[in-house]
Amino acid sequence: MPAPLLETQDLTKTFPGVVALNKVSLRLHAGEVLGLVGENGAGKSTLIKILGGVYPPSSGRVLLSGREIRFQGPKDALDAGIAVVYQELSLIPHLSVAENVFINRLPRRGVLVDWRRLERMAREVLAEVGLSDLDPRTPLAELPIGVQQSVEIARALSYRARVLLLDEPTSSLTEPEVENLFQILSRLKAQGIGILYVSHHLEEIFEITDRLHILRDGRTVAVLETASTHEDEVIARMVGRDLGQVLPEQRGQPGEVVLETRGLGDRFLKEVSVRFRRGEVVGIYGLLGSGRTELLKALVGARRPLAGEVRLFGRPVRFSHPHDAARQGVVYSSEDRKGENLFFGFPVWKNATYQAIQIGRFVRLGVPQARAERRAVAELAERLNLKAPSLDADVYHLSGGNQQKVCLAKALLSEPEVFLLDEPTRGIDVGAKLEVYQLMAELARAGKAVVFVSSELPELIANSDRVYTMARGRVTAELTGDAITEENVLKHCLEVETA
Ligand SMILES: Nc1ncnc2c1ncn2[C@@H]1O[C@H](COP(=O)(O)OP(=O)(O)OP(=O)(O)O)[C@@H](O)[C@H]1O
Ligand SMILES: [Mg+2]
Repeated sequence: MPAPLLETQDLTKTFPGVVALNKVSLRLHAGEVLGLVGENGAGKSTLIKILGGVYPPSSGRVLLSGREIRFQGPKDALDAGIAVVYQELSLIPHLSVAENVFINRLPRRGVLVDWRRLERMAREVLAEVGLSDLDPRTPLAELPIGVQQSVEIARALSYRARVLLLDEPTSSLTEPEVENLFQILSRLKAQGIGILYVSHHLEEIFEITDRLHILRDGRTVAVLETASTHEDEVIARMVGRDLGQVLPEQRGQPGEVVLETRGLGDRFLKEVSVRFRRGEVVGIYGLLGSGRTELLKALVGARRPLAGEVRLFGRPVRFSHPHDAARQGVVYSSEDRKGENLFFGFPVWKNATYQAIQIGRFVRLGVPQARAERRAVAELAERLNLKAPSLDADVYHLSGGNQQKVCLAKALLSEPEVFLLDEPTRGIDVGAKLEVYQLMAELARAGKAVVFVSSELPELIANSDRVYTMARGRVTAELTGDAITEENVLKHCLEVETA
């Protein structure tokens, strides 16, 4: 039997206060897709980072084709043929697509960059990820996140890697983009590349992987053949307990209209009229670029309206800034954890209370009441099952899903009447997702208005009392009750697109 393409033996990684990986032995063969799954904080990204040369292991070995390797940094891993697409995109927004792909390796003529060659080289790799039509000179920042993601994969491929590690590559992708990615992965697999694939989406895991390596609290709990297992078993192994039957949540009673818009328009939005009531969970669905996020931002004054109005409790309002909206009871939680929602470099508790402090909570006579703050955060951390070494830990060091929970805590601590949550379950594990759904239902029952944007149709349908669909900056339908079906929702998202 030939040595596996990539193997770890008793790999252990400790951080102050945490054992992120505990003697993990994993094997990845050439031409297979191995799924790496586990709850938030299980150690998946840490494993990927060690294999990608970002961290050295605390102990244990990494072998490539049977030979032990040690990396001094990410470049060594790339040189050895291991390419990584990280959980957080690592591209540089103001550079062009071509520069991003070949950064550090720009072709030169003398001392000058050979732009023509660069463009040609970029076109070649872009074609490999289905982006033959993309002009490599486009600044990256002008592209939707999904396309940026494909560019990141193109860059990984350009190293002629033998091993490709993907950490939640689909968390920002639309369905057609996911299909495109899977086609790319199938091709690479056929070429004998070994692929390690991290995802919280079990349907994807079952579609694309050959085997599954399951982690819990940094340890391997099972290695399974995908074809001979099923979702329930995987979930049970991941969480180490039975999630049980989730009872249909008792719904809230829709009450008075808290927030509404009439004919709202701006550079992107067109004549948007929506209403949100107490006691209701409203889902907003649209394809990428449909205006979902723009609408939520316009509601809290993060975008300037050009037409129409926003009304709070029936009275026209014009929020000057999201803090202004928060002060009046409307809170927006951005889908962009890293860019807009959290301050990396600051502790968990400070991030969680940041907005609340801005609006005068936990402040007495102008002085923040640190003890009260910490107590409130500790309670919420417990309730959200937040895994962090401590509340003083830099939020940067939390796993992606746990960062998402800090974002939720931040919204909750502002105690708003209206919650505007943009992709609140992105990157969180199956168990935590259920907790978020329960939380939304609970808030509605307590008389809050809850609005959420989700790209995951099943979750949107299961958790919304009412749904607005959007396309090209317009609301295309309002669905309630039995009319909330996948087919209906999709139909209304597409109709304007094709018209
Ligand atoms: N640089 C770091 N410093 C301190 N602790 C860290 C660091 N990186 C990760 N950790 C901790 O190690 C544990 C494992 O984190 P990791 O990011 O590997 O989880 P994950 O399985 O990728 O989770 P998720 O699904 O949420 O992305 C977590 O408890 C995390 O807080
Ligand atoms: Mg992770």
